[in-house]
Amino acid sequence: MQVNLESSWQIGPVEIPSRIVLAPMAGVSVQAFRRQGRRYGAGLVCSEMVSCAGLRHRNERTLGYLRIGSDESPLAVQIFGSDPETMAEAARMVEAAGADIVDINFGCPVGKVTKTGAGATLLEDPKRAVAIVGAVADAVETPVTVKMRRGLGNGSRAALELGPRLADAGAAALTLHPRSAKQMYTGTADHGLTAELVERVDVPVIASGDITSRGRALDVLEQTGAAAVMVGRAAQGDPWTVGEIAGLVHERPSREEVVAELLLFMHDTVEEMGEERATGFLKKFYGWYLGRGRFPKPFKQELVRLATVAEVEERLLAAAPGAGGHLERLRAETPSLEHTTLDLPVSIYAGG
Ligand SMILES: Cc1cc2nc3c(=O)[nH]c(=O)nc-3n(C[C@H](O)[C@H](O)[C@H](O)COP(=O)(O)O)c2cc1C
Repeated sequence: MQVNLESSWQIGPVEIPSRIVLAPMAGVSVQAFRRQGRRYGAGLVCSEMVSCAGLRHRNERTLGYLRIGSDESPLAVQIFGSDPETMAEAARMVEAAGADIVDINFGCPVGKVTKTGAGATLLEDPKRAVAIVGAVADAVETPVTVKMRRGLGNGSRAALELGPRLADAGAAALTLHPRSAKQMYTGTADHGLTAELVERVDVPVIASGDITSRGRALDVLEQTGAAAVMVGRAAQGDPWTVGEIAGLVHERPSREEVVAELLLFMHDTVEEMGEERATGFLKKFYGWYLGRGRFPKPFKQELVRLATVAEVEERLLAAAPGAGGHLERLRAETPSLEHTTLDLPVSIYAGG
């Protein structure tokens, strides 16, 4: 089969310009991450999972996840929960906030989520899973998609049984990360299962798991017949890998380029969540950007000990003096960096 990562495709009426989807990752998939992924060729970007209970209670931090930029389309916002009506209500808020797609999480393996009957638990609670997808699909006009793991236990094939039922209930696309919840991130993603799911459903399937290079992306598309690949961990601190997969980047970045992207990421994150939260949030990104043999290890350790983002910036510019020029060029080449955030619907604040 002829596979092509650059062609456009659709989820319902939503046009997606490339076959590369940036994964939803809790604690990672902020606007800055999504915008960066898009600049490097991702056709669809996703928010991290958002608690439907948090939205129902108008939790301020949870509502913050619905802050969407006017330049972010197409964007999927992912919700999680176990009660169909609360999920439907959350989906309406997500749609009102401007998301193009409502994605439902049936894959999270973390105890805090699974013990509430949400996330991966729903893979083996098919009646409830179908009820959730049906309620959400009825509640919104935007397409509804579902992201699954293979099942709870090792060797489980629950996602293959459930997938067709979710499509019948209204899911317009399915993402499969073919590891079990028990596996967490160990072992490898078994994309043989992705191929089986593609055979069983008429909606597009997105293949998630261990997509780390263009070669791997093409192999997985070819072997599975999936509509697109999803890139997660390989994109952390490394938009150049997303660019390589998209065929846009052909060389590894220089230290100056790495620092310039990191500085841009830092500025956008501070703008998005405020200096205080950003200071802690950014620490894991220093390791992701500066590791991979780009800078000596003690440099990262030094940065995470600094108290303010401004001090980190100063140290980065001292270590890579050419980065300031790169940053200016990045801003000049990318007018969309002048971004505006869509207003949250008034009804969210009013509680109605
Ligand atoms: C830090 C982290 C957070 C994640 N958070 C989410 C999430 O909120 N929702 C979700 O559906 N998957 C989440 N995932 C799973 C990823 O979307 C993806 O399916 C998985 O990492 C496999 O892809 P990869 O090998 O490209 O990383 C997360 C993964 C990581 C590493």
